[in-house]
Amino acid sequence: SRSLRLAVIPGDGIGQEVVAEGLKVLAAALPGDVKLETTEYDLGARRYHASGETLPDEVLAELKTHDAILLGAIGDPSVPSGVLERGLLLKLRFAFDHHINLRPGKLFPGVASPLAGSPQIDFVVVREGTEGPYVGNGGSLRTGTEQEVATEVSLNTAFGIERVVRDAYRRAAARPRKKLTLVHKNNVLVHAGHLWTRIFQQVGQEFPEVSTDYLHVDAATIFFVTQPERFDVIVTDNLFGDILTDLAAAVTGGIGLAASGNINPSGAFPSMFEPVHGSAPDIAGQGKADPTATVLSVAMLLDHLGFTAEAAKVEAAVAADLAERGNAGTRSTTEVGDALVGRVSG
Ligand code: IPM
Ligand code: MN
Repeated sequence: SRSLRLAVIPGDGIGQEVVAEGLKVLAAALPGDVKLETTEYDLGARRYHASGETLPDEVLAELKTHDAILLGAIGDPSVPSGVLERGLLLKLRFAFDHHINLRPGKLFPGVASPLAGSPQIDFVVVREGTEGPYVGNGGSLRTGTEQEVATEVSLNTAFGIERVVRDAYRRAAARPRKKLTLVHKNNVLVHAGHLWTRIFQQVGQEFPEVSTDYLHVDAATIFFVTQPERFDVIVTDNLFGDILTDLAAAVTGGIGLAASGNINPSGAFPSMFEPVHGSAPDIAGQGKADPTATVLSVAMLLDHLGFTAEAAKVEAAVAADLAERGNAGTRSTTEVGDALVGRVSG
């Protein structure tokens, strides 16, 4: 019989609560002959306070032996900003070479959009995941003086751009509209911007069926609000993608519904799936976090591992649930999870 070895990192705040529901739905969706073996890892604020550790090498080595990772959320006000972000979440993305950060922006029927006229929104952002200003290539000089200087240098390699751009073309070619938009800021960030633009055009020659366009990131934020239906697949750098995908969440029903996959397409390392939202300490422990983003991330996990029909079943369950309750529901975390388990099993 087959097995799925899943590493689970519930993390901080509502991470624990939403992951519990995601696992329930995963167990209900998997084919009967697939054995789900989960290993839970205690990482995040609690461990940091207890031992000073964020992601020990032994844990990293163990995580590596799994088929995939499900992560809830990390971060807590008691931990200085950046410690867990860089020392845990980004360390995982870099160590496992998660260069494809996949973030769908889909407005499900029944979900209230803050945008007028209920636009059709169904795009996917392919955010580069291992380069850009996230690499930690910077420093400070004359710290604490009036002459203090800080740099945060964005790293862009031809190799790194080409692989994410080609992945985005493939995804665009596989979708009905076959449209790919490059988002950057090549009128100001001319060095990186021109490299992205040139590679985007070169790789595009392999995909004549895909129509392309280019938007500066500031203009893209306008179109996300005024004309989101124009987007199909978007490819962009790590930081632009971070900002754009929060905006994408805002126009598709909020952060409680936004899913993501940190993907290593080669399979050399486990890919990691997580809701886009954070640990929400303000509502943690109250059982009112919406687990839908985690459940949709579980659907992406299933799809990534080749369980295509099961992924579609989970997404259909979410769609039906949202069509019935909308996004402003008053159900508890477990009530939503139970409803989704019911639909997936039924
Ligand atoms: C996200 C988050 C992370 C990011 C932070 C927590 C490091 O905002 O997953 O979008 O910037 O990528
Ligand atoms: Mn973000």
